[in-house]
Amino acid sequence: MSNNLLKGKRGIIFGALDSKSIAWKVAENCKEQGAEFVLTNAPIALRMGTINELAEKTGSQVILADATSVEDLENLMTKSMEILGGKIDFILHSIGMSVNVRKGRHYTNQNYDFTVKGFDVSAMSFHKVMQAAWKHDAMNDYGSILALSYIAAQRTFPDYNDMADNKSFLESVARSFGYHFGKKNNVRVNTISQSPTITTAGSGVKGFDGFFKYAEKISPLGNASSDDCAKYCVTLFSDLSRSVTMQNLFHDGGFSNTGVSEEVLENFLK
Ligand SMILES: NC(=O)c1ccc[n+]([C@@H]2O[C@H](COP(=O)([O-])OP(=O)(O)OC[C@H]3O[C@@H](n4cnc5c(N)ncnc54)[C@H](O)[C@@H]3O)[C@@H](O)[C@H]2O)c1
Repeated sequence: MSNNLLKGKRGIIFGALDSKSIAWKVAENCKEQGAEFVLTNAPIALRMGTINELAEKTGSQVILADATSVEDLENLMTKSMEILGGKIDFILHSIGMSVNVRKGRHYTNQNYDFTVKGFDVSAMSFHKVMQAAWKHDAMNDYGSILALSYIAAQRTFPDYNDMADNKSFLESVARSFGYHFGKKNNVRVNTISQSPTITTAGSGVKGFDGFFKYAEKISPLGNASSDDCAKYCVTLFSDLSRSVTMQNLFHDGGFSNTGVSEEVLENFLK
């Protein structure tokens, strides 16, 4: 159902690979709420995924950009403003990748070239995106910038590996850049800490099925779906949340504030 919460707003959405991607759902929901946006992803995503299908469905253009390349990001800012006909009101950073995870390297046995690459893609890219927007004065007053995080930034989940460190950095960048963007032109910057979600990036983490089920049993509301995450993103892009900034917002069905649930406890009382 549309309330036109984003009518007249222009956005840039990073990270829609296929229909399971959280960014895919965000794009569909933003479209439904009246927004216009550019879709962007790394060149390889064109071959690996189905982003063009989403572009057609939402009447959007795709601009390829490697989120680790400052040049690509600056080009993205300029082109997006040209295509959309003005400054940007919202940006979604929905990007994550760890080479150590992909190659099965244990946290205590990292290949540091892999670590640096994963950090650049998953975390520093968020700073690069905002710096490109800042330099090109691309954000409209009262705009909103969001990135997606995971609770492993604060609590240990052993198999999340170096992505935990990347997410900690990502959340810190949201606070630090959020200060400057707030002062500059009332732009807010937040991260959403989402439940485990079955997507290409999510399922790549060792033991994912186990902690997906565990989180489902711990969370009073169950795991938050990607579609619900997208709806939460819409509220944070809308004018209904203009004073929320520099926050890490848990969207996890209550997981982060639950010690134990009856369902989990039952397994230890047998
Ligand atoms: N799936 C989960 O369980 C879960 C939970 C919490 C947070 N998140 C976060 O949500 C975000 C989206 O992940 P997802 O689960 O939808 O998976 P996904 O695999 O669908 O999305 C990850 C995206 O990152 C893109 N990407 C990778 N390298 C890139 C680069 N160099 N430049 C530009 N884009 C690049 C990929 O092409 C892909 O579109 C990530 O930040 C992820 O860490 C996921």
